[in-house]
Amino acid sequence: MAYRFLTSRVVPSSNRLSRRSLFIATLCLSFTYLCYSLLFCSDAIMQSEGDEPHRCLLLHSAAATKKLLQKSSSYYCTPSGAPDRRSNSSAAGAGAAKFGNKKLPNAIIVGVKKGGTRAVLEFIRIHPDVRAVGTEPHFFDRNYDRGFDWYRGLMPRTLDSQITMEKTPSYFVTREAPRRISSMSRNTKLIVVVRNPVTRAISDYTQTLSKKPDIPTFEVLAFKNKSLGLVDTSWNAIRIGMYILHLENWLQYFPLSQIHFVSGEMLITDPAGELARVQDFLGLKRIVTDKHFYFNKTKGFPCLKKPESSSLPRCLGKSKGRTHVQIDQEVIEKLREFYRPYNIKFYEMVGHDFRWD
Ligand SMILES: *[C@@H]1O[C@H](CO)[C@@H](O)[C@H](O)[C@H]1NC(C)=O
Ligand SMILES: *[C@@H]1O[C@H](CO)[C@@H](O)[C@H](O)[C@H]1NC(C)=O
Ligand SMILES: *[C@@H]1O[C@H](CO)[C@@H](O)[C@H](O)[C@H]1NC(C)=O
Repeated sequence: MAYRFLTSRVVPSSNRLSRRSLFIATLCLSFTYLCYSLLFCSDAIMQSEGDEPHRCLLLHSAAATKKLLQKSSSYYCTPSGAPDRRSNSSAAGAGAAKFGNKKLPNAIIVGVKKGGTRAVLEFIRIHPDVRAVGTEPHFFDRNYDRGFDWYRGLMPRTLDSQITMEKTPSYFVTREAPRRISSMSRNTKLIVVVRNPVTRAISDYTQTLSKKPDIPTFEVLAFKNKSLGLVDTSWNAIRIGMYILHLENWLQYFPLSQIHFVSGEMLITDPAGELARVQDFLGLKRIVTDKHFYFNKTKGFPCLKKPESSSLPRCLGKSKGRTHVQIDQEVIEKLREFYRPYNIKFYEMVGHDFRWD
C-alpha cells in the first residue's frame, strides 16, 4: 500500500516533471527554429541585395530613354561590382562586400600606358558581373615577391558568377609578366588597350613633363640623331609603342585568342561598341551599352553617366586640360615612319588594322 501510495504520488509528479521538461524542450526547439528562420531570411534578403543592382540596372535600361533625356548626369543604379567609392582600392560594394570570396583575377588589363586603360576598367566595372581593384596592384612587375596571397588580398570579394579584374598598364612591357601571369593561371584573359604609338608617346611625355618640368624636350629624348631620323628606342615613351615586340613575348605564353585588343581611338568615338566586344571577350552579357555614356562636346570625350551623389565626373581624357606640348610636324612624321613597320606587323599578327598609318 505504502508502495502504491508512493508510486501513485511519485508517478504523476514525475509525469508532470517530464511534461514540463518536454514543454521547455519544445519551447527551446521552437525558439532555435525561429532564430534559424530569421537568420536564413536575413541571409536571403542580403543575398538579394547583392543581386539588386543587376535588377536595378535592367529596370533602368527599360525605363532608360525617358530619364536619360532629362539630364546629362542622370542616375544609373550602381552595380554591385562597381561601388561609387572608387578611389579606394578594393572598395566594398554595399551588399556584396560581405559575400563571396577574394579570388585571383580571371582577367587583367595589361596595357598600355596612356592607351585608355583607366577608362576601360571604369566602363567594364559598371557590369554587375565584374568586380575590380581600383588601384594598380603592380603585382607582376614590382610586387611579385610579396606572393599570391598578398595579391589575392587586394582583390574585392566576388560571388562565383562574378569576374575579378585588375589593371596595371606596365605589365605589357614587363619581360617577366607573361610567364608570371601564366604561372598563376594559363586561362587568364588579357586585355590590351592600344593607341597610335606616336600620340601615345606624346601623351606619355606630356604626363611626365607635368610631374618633372625640367626634363629635356620631346625631340631631344626621342632621337639619337634627329637629322638621321635615328629614334632612341631605349626611351620608354618610344619603346612602349613598339607593340609587336612586346606582343611576341606574350605569345610565348598565351594564345592570341586569349588576348583582346581595344582600340584607344574607337574607345573615344564609340565606347559602347568597344565595350560590347570586351563583354563578348569576357563571356559576359552585353549590359554596358550606349545608355551608359554621354558625349561631352566641350571636352570632346565620352563620359560615364553617374549617380548624382558622386562628385567625380568620369570622362575619358581627364588630362585634356593639360598644356599640350607642341611637337613639330616633321618630328611626328619621322616617328610615324619609324613606327610604320612595327604597326603593320602588329596588324598582321592580331588580324586587325587599327589605322594609325
Ligand atoms: C582605403 O580607405 C581607407 C579608409 O578610408 C584607408 O585607410 C586606406 O588606406 C585606403 N586604401 C587605399 C589602398 O587607398
Ligand atoms: C647625326 O648624324 C650626322 C651624320 O652622320 C652627324 O654629322 C651628326 O654629328 C650627328 N649628330 C649627332 C647629335 O650625333
Ligand atoms: C563637360 O566638360 C566640361 C569641361 O571639362 C565641364 O566643365 C562640363 O561640366 C562638362 N559637362 C558635362 C555635362 O559633363
